[in-house]
Amino acid sequence: MNRPSPAARVMPLHDLHPAPDDLSAEVLSGLRAEPRTLPCKYFYDAEGSKLFDRICELEEYYPTRTEIGILSDQATAIADSVGGEALVIELGSGSSTKTHRLLEALTKPAGYVPVDISRAHLTEAAARIARSFPGLPVWPVCADFNQELDLPALESSGARRLIFFPGSTIGNFDRPARAALLRRSANLCGAKGGRMLIGIDLIKDVDRLERAYDDRDGVTAAFNRNLLRRINRELGADFVPERFAHEATFDPVEARIEMHLVSEVDQSVAIGDQRFRFERGERICTEHSYKFTIGGFVEGAAEAGWALEHAFTDAEELFALLLLQTT
Ligand code: AVI
Repeated sequence: MNRPSPAARVMPLHDLHPAPDDLSAEVLSGLRAEPRTLPCKYFYDAEGSKLFDRICELEEYYPTRTEIGILSDQATAIADSVGGEALVIELGSGSSTKTHRLLEALTKPAGYVPVDISRAHLTEAAARIARSFPGLPVWPVCADFNQELDLPALESSGARRLIFFPGSTIGNFDRPARAALLRRSANLCGAKGGRMLIGIDLIKDVDRLERAYDDRDGVTAAFNRNLLRRINRELGADFVPERFAHEATFDPVEARIEMHLVSEVDQSVAIGDQRFRFERGERICTEHSYKFTIGGFVEGAAEAGWALEHAFTDAEELFALLLLQTT
């Protein structure tokens, strides 16, 4: 006899109504600043997200496949360390692709809480996970994980929390923002404490690092210049993206890849009724991507209330998934 399979269990969306980003204010103040900057969070419009998906498949861009490799090859060890019945909270869950592997590996996860600012992504991904894991309660939360998260719907769940933050997204945060995020994540685990499984990209030879951010097919260059296209479209600007060169260099003192758009000529650009002059060679910083040693990252995390339980790495030590626990 065919038994009915347990129904998908997506709970009603918990909407914290994150404040919409102010692209105009941030772009104008970033371009007036010295040195000039544009926030990397604005890379991800529809076209930028597609380009980022292509970056993740590039031969040169090792982080994605390496992290997935660690999750797959060491699934049992990760599951054993995490223990059973954890409530998995994913920060910036997007399409929840890596979560799939994690949930498959874990013993009887108590539930899945994807947290994302995009309602559309969240709803789709929550439904997909619920279909793949019948019976697993899924609580989608629409929120900006850069803000304090209040998750009353979870208070009733006594399960131990496991925060999942893959992809070395933490590397796109400068030091103070990184510390604040780690501190908020510790608070999110509640009084009983909890764990965090976080992906970090490791320091390696400069050539390998720089190639990952300046691939031969020019996908990362297109991703970087797409920011100017977005500003043209959404703010009525007249950037000619081809007049800006893509540059990605590793700064060993700061231990970070710095991405820039470099003006190839003397030029003037209008954004609405504002004008900006760029001299030839002038740079706009568009992204920092920090690289870590396990020891260095753990030292910083300790100040935010976390201790290392286990480090999972690949054979070449390109990338690490760290299991941290609150102190
Ligand atoms: C999303 N983030 C972790 C990527 C990184 O590697 O810093 C963004 C990226 N920028 C250029 N390539 C990929």
